[in-house]
Formats: sequence, structure tokens, C-alpha cells
Amino acid sequence: MIRKLFKIGDKSSNTAPSAPKHPTPEQTPYQMMGGAEAVRQLSDRFYDIMEQAPEASELLAIHPQPMDSIRERFYEFLSGWLGGPGLFEQKYGHPRLRARHLPFKIDDEMRDQWMFCMNRALDIEIDTPLLREQLRQAFSQLADHMRNQPPA
Ligand code: HEM
Repeated sequence: MIRKLFKIGDKSSNTAPSAPKHPTPEQTPYQMMGGAEAVRQLSDRFYDIMEQAPEASELLAIHPQPMDSIRERFYEFLSGWLGGPGLFEQKYGHPRLRARHLPFKIDDEMRDQWMFCMNRALDIEIDTPLLREQLRQAFSQLADHMRNQPPA
């Protein structure tokens, strides 16, 4: 999950001589967002935007319709990736996310359309600016990693 990217609870920030000896409790992104309901809202918002925004029409076109089960699996994946219950892994095993995406041609344009939807969803659903930016970064790295076509 993405705790590593967030460096949450990184003890090194607390090692200055004057720092308090009792570090603040660690929180996962899942907890910071507000748990299951908030993760569900983020994943639903993401697909709502994909379905409606002309900017994401090519991305929508490669998604098998209807997207009900994809919405569900994306929510289950996010739950674990954000540090909550590993719902996806419990049901389907390791996500092997890049391999799962190999049947689809994912180039810079597709990655940008995906991030367009996610950026909008984050803007609407995540109130705390720092958390929003950290999530944006983490999603962006994963979306980059999902590309499987050479640059144009
Ligand atoms: C970068 C551009 C991306 C494109 C074009 C893309 C495209 C797709 C498509 C077409 C599906 C449907 C697969 C199917 O029904 O067989 C899918 C499913 C999924 N995507 Fe992506 N995706 C992208 C990035 C991401 C990222 C960054 C994540 C994670 C944060 C992600 C997580 C998922 C998950 C969890 C599913 C459901 C997996 C399953 O069917 O078992 N995708 N994606």
C-alpha cells in the first residue's frame, strides 16, 4: 500500500534532539480520508467523471460496459492500497495491476485521461489540501507505471 509514498509516521522527522519522544500516532491515508464510505465515494466519483467528461471519451471507450463490477473492484483495490482492509486481495489474490492492464493500449494520452478523471475526483472528494496532493502524487506514479506503449 501507499504508506511508503506518504512517509506517514516517518520517525526520522522526530529524531531532532528537541523533538518529543512520543511520536504522533500513525494514520493511514484510508483513515485520513474517513474510511470505507469516503473511499467508495472517491471511486464512484472517478467513474462518474469518466462516464460524463468529453475529455475522457477515449478512456471510457476501452472500458467494457456496464462498469458496475469494475467500480466495485476498483473500490476494493483502493481500500487495501490506501491502507484499509485488503478487500481485493482477499477475493482475487494479488492485484498484479500492470499485468491486468496489458490487454489495453495505455499510452501518455490514456494516462492523461485517467489522471484527468482522478484529479477531478480528488478535487471534489478530498477536502484537506495536503492529503489531496499526496494522493495526487501517489495516483500519478501508479498511472505512469501502467503505461505499456512507447512514447509517441
Ligand atoms: C493509466 C491509465 C489507465 C487505464 C487506461 C486503465 C484502464 C482500465 C480498464 C480498461 C479497466 C477494465 C478492465 C477489465 O474490465 O478487464 C481497468 C480496470 C481496473 N483498473 Fe485501470 N486503468 C488505468 C490506470 C489505473 C490505475 C492508476 C489504477 C490504480 C490506482 C487502476 C486500477 C484498476 C483496477 C483495480 C481495475 C479493476 C481490475 C479488475 O478488473 O480486476 N487503473 N482499468
